[in-house]
Amino acid sequence: MIRLTKVSRIYQDGARSVKALDGVGLDIPVGCVAALTGKSGSGKSTLLHLMGGLEWPSEGRVTVAGVNLDDLNDRARTRFRLTTIGFVFQFFHLLPSLSVLENLTLPAELASISLRKARSKAAHLLEEVGLPQLAGTYPERLSAGEQQRVAIARGLMMDPPILLADEPTGNLDSETGQQIIALIHRLAGERGMTVILASHSPELVAQCPHRIELHDGRIIHDDTGSGSQVGPHPRSSTGKTPICL
Ligand SMILES: Nc1ncnc2c1ncn2[C@@H]1O[C@H](COP(=O)(O)OP(=O)(O)O)[C@@H](O)[C@H]1O
Ligand SMILES: [Mg+2]
Repeated sequence: MIRLTKVSRIYQDGARSVKALDGVGLDIPVGCVAALTGKSGSGKSTLLHLMGGLEWPSEGRVTVAGVNLDDLNDRARTRFRLTTIGFVFQFFHLLPSLSVLENLTLPAELASISLRKARSKAAHLLEEVGLPQLAGTYPERLSAGEQQRVAIARGLMMDPPILLADEPTGNLDSETGQQIIALIHRLAGERGMTVILASHSPELVAQCPHRIELHDGRIIHDDTGSGSQVGPHPRSSTGKTPICL
């Protein structure tokens, strides 16, 4: 589902070059729910950005849902991001001038889905994240936890098979953070999504079935791949899909 082969990412910072990722290899199966851990600066955000097609590797190959991201032109890449990846960020990134409902319908509009369908989908997702009453409210009126619920709902508008969350509880108190993690796990389980959650919160990491750990841009722990498969995937009729939940 998500495969990285010898991936490096070098940033040019003035005269200095920073190797944010250094020869990373990953093979994450469908349905895997994994925490991505490591100290600040270890490369977690860079790795998520590469998986989600927000950035390019300096070396190596990123393949997601069978698509080599290098093969996509700008238009195809935008489409890929809209339909394949749901992103959730630490600071929610809701648009302040749009209502909750409008924030949700935006990705669907960008993907040329009819507004009627988009609104009905958004209303359904607001129910799923427990905020049906807030459709007409603007983000500034919401608590941080509510904003993150809306951001999660927005990330699911196009029913992506993959959810990438970058420090999704980093701006929340611990109880609200727990609720958000429980919500992500519930939605991921119901939809069979592949989920990568970047975090250095020990509680969040402990609740994920799998863990990838980075140190200075290199993987020092990974139990998501073929080496850790323990049997057939529960949704697989052939028994050949690896389990990762
Ligand atoms: N746009 C950028 N320009 C220069 N350096 C960057 C940029 N983005 C990240 N870096 C550097 O790459 C390294 C990894 O960063 P990042 O992926 O954000 O790590 P993490 O999310 O684990 O904190 C850090 O040394 C960071 O300073
Ligand atoms: Mg980061």
